[in-house]
Amino acid sequence: MASKNKPAQFDNRLYYGDNLDVLRNKIHDETVDLCYIDPPFNSKRNYFQIYNNIGGEADRAQAQAFMDTWEWGDEAEEGLRYITNIANLNNDKLTPQTVALIQGLINVLGKGDLMAYLVHMTQRIVEIHRVLKPTGSFYLHCDPTASHYLKLVLDSVFCGGGRNGDFRNEIIWHYRRWTGKAKKFQELHDVIFFYSKTNDVTFNALYTEYTEKSLHRKQHHHTRIKGADVYVTTIDERGVRENDVWQIPGLNSQAKERLGYPTQKPEILLERIIKASSNEGDVLLDAYCGCGTTVAVAQKLNRRWIGIDITYQSISLILKRLKDANRGEQWTAIDQSLLIDGVPKDKDSAIALANRRDDRTRKEFEKWAVLTYTDDQARINEKKGADGGVDGISYFMLDKVQEEFKHGKVVYQVKSGGAQRGTIDNLRGVMESQSAEIGILLTMDAPTKPMLETARQAGKFKHPLLGTEYDRIQIVTVEELLNGARIALPHPAEMVKAAEAIGNNSAQQLLI
Ligand SMILES: C[S@@+](CC[C@H](N)C(=O)[O-])C[C@H]1O[C@@H](n2cnc3c(N)ncnc32)[C@H](O)[C@@H]1O
Repeated sequence: MASKNKPAQFDNRLYYGDNLDVLRNKIHDETVDLCYIDPPFNSKRNYFQIYNNIGGEADRAQAQAFMDTWEWGDEAEEGLRYITNIANLNNDKLTPQTVALIQGLINVLGKGDLMAYLVHMTQRIVEIHRVLKPTGSFYLHCDPTASHYLKLVLDSVFCGGGRNGDFRNEIIWHYRRWTGKAKKFQELHDVIFFYSKTNDVTFNALYTEYTEKSLHRKQHHHTRIKGADVYVTTIDERGVRENDVWQIPGLNSQAKERLGYPTQKPEILLERIIKASSNEGDVLLDAYCGCGTTVAVAQKLNRRWIGIDITYQSISLILKRLKDANRGEQWTAIDQSLLIDGVPKDKDSAIALANRRDDRTRKEFEKWAVLTYTDDQARINEKKGADGGVDGISYFMLDKVQEEFKHGKVVYQVKSGGAQRGTIDNLRGVMESQSAEIGILLTMDAPTKPMLETARQAGKFKHPLLGTEYDRIQIVTVEELLNGARIALPHPAEMVKAAEAIGNNSAQQLLI
């Protein structure tokens, strides 16, 4: 977690919250050089984080990362009201083309799931256009499910109402993967739209190496005669200009940079975009961060960055990814100039998070409490039934028997109110059914005397190697958590694969 004494000026900013609120309230006009977003594609499914298989759990542990199912409801109605509010047209927030387009699409598509998705995207694209500098670029990553509608929205926002924006490229990212057996051609590409705010856009042409065939042709057939004209083909030392079809492998299950996050994009894809459309020191924005590929690459390429995500799992993963990739002094320097916004800093904001009702996220308070207390080393538990009372699980090193590590287990319960003695009894029952060595209750309110007494009765756990004793049931208040209390157990196991450290030391080698 970030340290407390920080300079007033931040190089980088990580926001935990809905990107519409963050964009509208925290990001000034014309301050961003490059924005890349990889929002949900309207795929009509939900996505799950896959964890490392520690502790020999029978089924591979996973927890919902984000939802990509949409329906017309209050949020969409409110969005539509905003878009069709004449005041927003008059003050140039929206172009007449955007308003007419959305009204027209409502007539054609009706108020359903696709329209809810498009209203969501339109509002964000409007704000992204506002925060871009005149030299800025926008890359929107999507797939053919809704790309045809999104391009209309982009045209209306960037080029409507006399604005000087321009559509520059439709980049096809082509990859290989196993696909289904539906009665259609295999779907092996994503679409990335590239728009600029004006014609004065930052653009660094990229080059790739010649193929052997074209190099051979240029070397041996470099003169062509057409009528009276003689053409001499020269070999450009830089190679061939990059085109708009990118053959980049997707991340397979064995890929080194893979963190178990669904929809994680390859770093090389972001490298290409960032190198082409920004320079060192420029400000990059990713409003749908996921596990933070954009910010990790921006950091590597010496750009400043702004990241936003609505789930605490993503925020936790991004912080862990940055810490793993930049160790020691490198991380201290990044941490010093990093603003983390939207994460509870006091009890009132913790209560606000506990009371937050958002249909598109779940159990955010529980996730924040568990991941913060464990320094991002726990997995979130969403199973129902026997595991129902467990909000998180983490493991620690117990022993090494014949080259095999034995792990101890910690289960976490989170209570935003109403904890009492029965809560501790319940935790004890869960520990038994889970064969956990330690149980931790993270609670908003201070524990009562009977709670403390019941916890004490659970006794101590003695670490077999270190001989250190730990309370089997521990109670930690949100106040303590906010004051920096963190899990005190030896050698926590990595629940999510560590990002590779920049430099020679692989993160794996640095683990015990
Ligand atoms: C497809 S993933 C991005 C993956 C990312 N490009 C990567 O490489 O990891 C989309 C992300 O958008 C986030 N998201 C969805 N709606 C959001 C919103 N309204 N505000 C902020 N983040 C949102 C989800 O939580 C999810 O992490």
